[in-house]
Amino acid sequence: MSAKPDYTFKQSLGLQDNPIVTGLWQVADLERGGTELDRDHAATALLDYSNAGFHCFDMADHYGSAELIAGAAKAKLLNDNSDSETPLKLYTKWCPQPDQCQPEDVRRGIAERMERLGVECIDLLQLHWWTFEHPGYIDVMDSLMQLKQEGWIKHIGTTNFDTDHLQVLISCGFEVDSNQVCLSVLDRRALGNMTDLCLQHDIGLLAYGTLAGGFLTDQWLNQLEPNNITDWSKMKYHRFINATGGWASYQRVMQTLMSIAEKHAVSIANVAARWVIQQAAVAGVIVGARLTHTVHHDSNQQLLSLTLDADDMQRIEDASSNLTTIAGDCGSEYRKPPYLTASGDLSDHLESLPCAYSREAVPGRENRWRIATGSDYESICGFSRAIRDGNRIMVSGTTATHGLDRPIGISNPGAQTTYILDKIAASLAALGASLDDVIRTRIYLTDCNHWETVSRVHGRYFHNCLPANTLLEVSSLVGPYTVEIEAEAIVPDTSACF
Ligand SMILES: NC(=O)c1ccc[n+]([C@@H]2O[C@H](COP(=O)([O-])OP(=O)(O)OC[C@H]3O[C@@H](n4cnc5c(N)ncnc54)[C@H](OP(=O)(O)O)[C@@H]3O)[C@@H](O)[C@H]2O)c1
Repeated sequence: MSAKPDYTFKQSLGLQDNPIVTGLWQVADLERGGTELDRDHAATALLDYSNAGFHCFDMADHYGSAELIAGAAKAKLLNDNSDSETPLKLYTKWCPQPDQCQPEDVRRGIAERMERLGVECIDLLQLHWWTFEHPGYIDVMDSLMQLKQEGWIKHIGTTNFDTDHLQVLISCGFEVDSNQVCLSVLDRRALGNMTDLCLQHDIGLLAYGTLAGGFLTDQWLNQLEPNNITDWSKMKYHRFINATGGWASYQRVMQTLMSIAEKHAVSIANVAARWVIQQAAVAGVIVGARLTHTVHHDSNQQLLSLTLDADDMQRIEDASSNLTTIAGDCGSEYRKPPYLTASGDLSDHLESLPCAYSREAVPGRENRWRIATGSDYESICGFSRAIRDGNRIMVSGTTATHGLDRPIGISNPGAQTTYILDKIAASLAALGASLDDVIRTRIYLTDCNHWETVSRVHGRYFHNCLPANTLLEVSSLVGPYTVEIEAEAIVPDTSACF
């Protein structure tokens, strides 16, 4: 097994002796008809997991009544014991709409989590952010840091942040302890750059999807592909199976898992989850539970004594490296088509995504629109953030400035580039275009030694449309920046009304 960092937060998050977290998204599925689970019955089922040694539970604001069930379980324990401490560690998530980023929005969102969980301090609060074209996540992180200082949150984590944006948070000095991402023998996106970044900065991965919603279990070995799946988790991971090469490829991986399971006299689920636990940056593995319906804590206990040897790991590596790699980085499945969600889109989560900028017609000019950032200088100097004239869009030289004057990622050219390209994408979106319409970029660097770091980020944004590019070294840029980028796009459909 690779040496793991000695994550200091593991002790206070209850992961030191048992890295398995019980996941409660399944509660939302069980309640999707509109009837909540019987609170007392479900709290007892949750405490059964705790009594079996699984004290950590993962929830979110949208997991049905999961937070309330966990709160009821905690209250039960407190009633039964005079101690004010319980072994329960309750992790939750806040997944705000992108325009809910003011301090009062964050305070309200977190206060609601605390009230539902019945806690005065949340063990782990994980932020999910729907679109990085909206920069409100920086403001939300500011507020979360403030709430941590005030004692409302013990640890801040993220969920579904990709490597580039986790790097942005790190470069801003935010204290992020964990990133919750999909990781399984079917989906190994988190094992590349994400793992390297996490190891470098002592961030632990909390892995979900480890059993692909139950598909990576004995129950599905040698089975025919189902055509009537109704549970959300399997609907979601069936898309992953299709995206990685289909049912036959998945069944070939299952054969390998089965043969390793037989060698150790454990289950396929145990092998699949153990493989994840043994990955270098993984601090915890989330295994979903359908509370009050099925119980797997006895089986999951076997994970604690199982170790996969180098040969097992290599065989799994070989089997899964034959699969098609899931496109993009961690969390792409929530941000770009094809959405690998239960519904195949974001309709369960969002009605629409707000634009970070709004456009205005340029007075006296037909077919010309502009967007502005709101800086006083724009009207004094006659600048625009971007201009669309007919089907042509020019985006001004863009630096990593948050709001009107806050530099982002100053000591990190890669983070600046990420932030800049999100601003360019948001500018294009406000003018009816996307990054895929860009035909030219021009990058200014104050130190040409950064060309590769910056260009690699550029490549992750533009790998589809491959714009013409110029890379220039300049003696300095206005402000503390080391990177500035401008872009030009052509919108193919000139008649498009936007
Ligand atoms: N951050 C995010 O975006 C995100 C997304 C998805 C999930 N999550 C988190 O991850 C958790 C896990 O959810 P998931 O959808 O990824 O599912 P999963 O953990 O891959 O699969 C869970 C299912 O596997 C089966 N199972 C569990 N232990 C087993 C064992 N030892 N042997 C055989 N079968 C076993 C159970 O199915 P049966 O009940 O049918 O037996 C269970 O419902 C969620 O509850 C949530 O906390 C987070």
